[in-house]
Amino acid sequence: MSEQTTFVAGAAPGAVPVVGHALQMMRHPVNFMTSLSAHGDLVQIKIGPTSAYVPTHPDLLRYVLTNDRIFDKGGVFYDRARDIAGNGLVTCPFADHRRQRRLMQSAFTRTQLKRYATAMHAEIEATTARWHDGMVVDAFPELYGMALRTVGRTLYSTPVSPELAAGVERAFDVVLNGLFRQMFLPRFIRRLPLPANRRYESNLRFLHRTTQELIDDYRSDGAAHDDLLAALLASRDDDGGRLDDKEIHDQVITVMAAGTETVAGTLTWVFYLLSQHPEIEAALYEEIDTVLGGRAPDWDDLPNLSLADRIISEALRLHPPAWLFTRLTATETELAGRRLPEGTTIVFSPAAVAQYEDAFGNPTAFDPDRWLPDRVSPAARQAFMPFGTGARKCIGDLYARTEATLGLATILGRWRVTCEPDMDVRPVPLATVYHPRRLRLRLSARTPRPAATPVPAPAGGDPA
Ligand code: HEM
Repeated sequence: MSEQTTFVAGAAPGAVPVVGHALQMMRHPVNFMTSLSAHGDLVQIKIGPTSAYVPTHPDLLRYVLTNDRIFDKGGVFYDRARDIAGNGLVTCPFADHRRQRRLMQSAFTRTQLKRYATAMHAEIEATTARWHDGMVVDAFPELYGMALRTVGRTLYSTPVSPELAAGVERAFDVVLNGLFRQMFLPRFIRRLPLPANRRYESNLRFLHRTTQELIDDYRSDGAAHDDLLAALLASRDDDGGRLDDKEIHDQVITVMAAGTETVAGTLTWVFYLLSQHPEIEAALYEEIDTVLGGRAPDWDDLPNLSLADRIISEALRLHPPAWLFTRLTATETELAGRRLPEGTTIVFSPAAVAQYEDAFGNPTAFDPDRWLPDRVSPAARQAFMPFGTGARKCIGDLYARTEATLGLATILGRWRVTCEPDMDVRPVPLATVYHPRRLRLRLSARTPRPAATPVPAPAGGDPA
């Protein structure tokens, strides 16, 4: 953080007794977070009865995220996320993080990702093989199912029964959708035996039990595996330390929870944005046909699918699927001239900085080319944090981009995708991941333009 920068602290208007700003967040979380910069660089909001501070200046947010000893994981979001992910990589405190991250990193190297790309592609193909010409699918649930099965296949390459896969999918749906509701509810309501609370608890128990059974079966089958779980089980740090059984359990659930709705949300917004920008959509079909000419994409095609990658970046900027995380100050500290006692809640929302005017010209416009290497400014890079930053940055960022790009190229290589007119792109209230209420996609089979035949080199030597 520059020594000269003077940050201004402020407060968001419109808090209502008891629920605070929960209603605004329910109605349109990303618009609410984006609007906060009008009230200061650090803005006080109310999540229910809890006061929290949102950095809306990119430098201030980076300062918070890179000082994870002071601004530690905790607060209303992570209290509930621990119901699901225990003390896994995403939820663990600073004291446990560096060791866990070292041990997890070996499952997310480029060499590993290249392997996962094959499994990802197989699952994307399996999903699209169920589609037929003229079919209409509900975008988010369809892509969510695809993303969950993809993580399952990269994590645990041994096939599980379709019934079990469907049960896990339903349970994650209940639990992930219940998480934010649980977060906004006062503790005494969470403990009442209400149907929604009981459903949340029983699905949570099912997920923990099933995860453990899958890990136990996997370890006892004696087969050699070459997947994400094998990488986690084999991982050793310099002192020979490894993840213990409880940590393996927590990491498996963490990866399933963190890597599914987020990717589905990203792709859903991409299809919506393309439907609103036909010229960009046409250029993307052109890129896909030129690079692939009708064949399936693989890892080596990724650098050539650069427009697809820029479209994904721009969708992540305008519609960050993971829109709210919390931190808790581990000690008294100061931020934007405000004294924050130990135990103060800080909210990290990528949306609060993603339309920062000094970083992005015309910040509300969907302009994938703002990410072209010769156009992108250092300020834009600094303000772009859909995956967070610092030591707690998403470990699955490249995984997510690989899956989203392979998904987009596979789908649009074979199908013309149009959005049905009955779309309702207001966000689902209190969903953990920001995604539209209704976006249905009509799929029409298309014949891709074959790739241009390469011009043969003249006989007798290299061309001049
Ligand atoms: C578009 C998709 C995704 C988005 C937008 C996203 C976003 C994020 C963000 C913002 C964080 C930081 C949270 C914080 O600082 O409190 C994070 C952390 C994390 N994400 Fe992702 N994520 C995505 C996909 C994935 C995938 C595919 C995986 C795994 C396969 C994954 C696993 C994790 C893990 C384990 C962490 C914790 C990292 C640590 O604390 O060291 N994420 N993600």
